Amino acid sequence: MKYVQIIFSPTGGTEKVAKAIAGDWPAADTVDLSVPGADYGKITLQPEDAALIAMPSFGGLAPQLALDRLAAIRGNGARCILVAVYGNRAYEDTLVQMEDAAEKSGFRVIAAVAAVAEHSIMRQYATGRPDGADRDQLAGFGAKIREKLESGGESKPAIPGNRPYKKAGGFGLVPKADSGCDECGLCAKRCPAGAIDPQAPQATDGSRCISCMRCVSLCPRQARKVNSVMVSAAALAIKKACSQYKENELFL
Ligand SMILES: Cc1cc2nc3c(=O)[nH]c(=O)nc-3n(C[C@H](O)[C@H](O)[C@H](O)COP(=O)(O)O)c2cc1C
Ligand code: SF4
Ligand code: SF4
Repeated sequence: MKYVQIIFSPTGGTEKVAKAIAGDWPAADTVDLSVPGADYGKITLQPEDAALIAMPSFGGLAPQLALDRLAAIRGNGARCILVAVYGNRAYEDTLVQMEDAAEKSGFRVIAAVAAVAEHSIMRQYATGRPDGADRDQLAGFGAKIREKLESGGESKPAIPGNRPYKKAGGFGLVPKADSGCDECGLCAKRCPAGAIDPQAPQATDGSRCISCMRCVSLCPRQARKVNSVMVSAAALAIKKACSQYKENELFL
């Protein structure tokens, strides 16, 4: 049995959660779903393989770009674990969307996790998560999942969410660079959506940008910013929902 991690993690929170769950599983191939132009269609698993598929929740849904790239991978009957990571507001229909996409790609879902990580736009929510207690709990989930995999478990748990899914809305948060930008090109190289022109990295193609915040978090000069008035208004709107501590959940 080969383990494969299939991960979309623009700012690293999803990756931290995946590592906490499966960090001590046998060395796995990792498929990074954030590479524009990558040939995901050439990735084929075997029925005896297992995949951990992890994505963040954006607006209570899985990022469409990550679902589209997952759709190109051939699961070929391999079992999979779905991991949705959210910033302490809600993950709503993220896991059921991932379930449908994974099954369409030929995976068999045998477990799912919803876990909290620091909010990648409003970092005042879920700050520092996953923390030490989360990591211990997620490692415990990981051990239970691995036991199920190794004992040949194939049952699918009930996964929360609605069909039809909630309606996707635009976020309208398109980062731009300020005068601190030295045109190093790093943001253009790492943008999952190919929304930044390497020849003119100050601007952003708003029709491609998915507001994932990778460019904001990786700019070495802290030159990329989103409209702070919009972020403050959004933070106020979700303050109540985000202030209550949310537990990680395991569906097995
Ligand atoms: C565009 C966008 C929308 C988001 N929407 C939600 C949401 O609906 N609910 C929530 O709890 N967190 C939301 N978040 C927070 C992320 O799900 C969370 O920070 C996650 O850890 C980001 O993953 P990453 O660090 O791997 O990029 C959103 C973040 C972004 C960038
Ligand atoms: S990473 Fe920052 S400094 Fe480099 S091109 Fe992008 S905005 Fe400019
Ligand atoms: S330009 Fe948009 S899609 Fe690209 S890294 Fe920045 S926020 Fe993400």
